[in-house]
Amino acid sequence: MSTLIVGASGFLGSVVARQATATGHAVVGTSTTGSGVWVPVDVTDRKSVRALISAVRPKLVINSTRGNWRVSADGAATVAAEAVAVGARLVHVSTDALHAGRPAPYTEDDTPTPVSLYGAAKAAAETAVAAIDPSAVIVRTSLIFGGGSSHETLVLDLLNGRSSGMLFTDEIRCPIHVEDLAAALLELADSRFSGILNVAGPDAVSRADFGRMIARARGLDDSKLPVGLSRDGGLGPRPLDVRLDTSLARTILRTRLRPLAETVSAPA
Ligand SMILES: NC(=O)c1ccc[n+]([C@@H]2O[C@H](COP(=O)([O-])OP(=O)(O)OC[C@H]3O[C@@H](n4cnc5c(N)ncnc54)[C@H](OP(=O)(O)O)[C@@H]3O)[C@@H](O)[C@H]2O)c1
Repeated sequence: MSTLIVGASGFLGSVVARQATATGHAVVGTSTTGSGVWVPVDVTDRKSVRALISAVRPKLVINSTRGNWRVSADGAATVAAEAVAVGARLVHVSTDALHAGRPAPYTEDDTPTPVSLYGAAKAAAETAVAAIDPSAVIVRTSLIFGGGSSHETLVLDLLNGRSSGMLFTDEIRCPIHVEDLAAALLELADSRFSGILNVAGPDAVSRADFGRMIARARGLDDSKLPVGLSRDGGLGPRPLDVRLDTSLARTILRTRLRPLAETVSAPA
């Protein structure tokens, strides 16, 4: 019986695929083009999703795709419907970006209040996935880092002048190392948990302070990082203070969600 990882060519999906293979899953992973070891699928094309899932007949489907509305919202619904059709366990990856931001941490009971199109699409996906498969696991997570994440690349690019822009001092998140998140997804897949679960790191930190930690871990001068307020970044409406309350995850997961002091380090 196979494990189908939709979006296995992506940052998180590739680590989930590697960990799943290492723990004995027979993994089928997808990308949009099907290059390398991945098989092609376009989640915006129902026939493509149906053909893949009916051929693979997976026991487990993990949806780690990311894209525009048709990918993040419609595509998530399509993957859920086709997973249900073959009786597969479904783990869907969601985001903290569906919250508007406030000083108090968000629990799983907090309904989405998106301020961005991305947040709205991911909120729509949660509604669709939960309606199609009430037994599915929906994991709300925060900034994912480790190795070559876009967040780490941005810090390096800002420092060496390859990127313009800045890191925001007033956008608070709970970053999680990609290895911890991947392990948590696989543990949840193997559990009886259903519904929404917050899975994020234990530290709430601004994007600016997170960037400074990344720079220092590489021996770089963190004082050179351009920082500023989100409203001055010209990126449109974005949630500011979004902290995920992970007390439920910490009671049910064996996977440890490690603090930044242990996980932000220079690449090996
Ligand atoms: N990165 C973060 O900090 C973060 C934070 C919170 C939540 N999340 C969530 O975590 C998940 C993984 O994020 P990520 O950063 O790993 O994403 P990513 O690196 O951008 O990977 C996205 C994946 O989706 C696939 N994809 C895009 N359009 C598709 C389509 N039409 N049909 C099928 N597959 C398609 C991509 O395939 P190709 O490689 O072929 O393009 C790729 O495998 C997403 O659900 C995201 O919303 C991410």
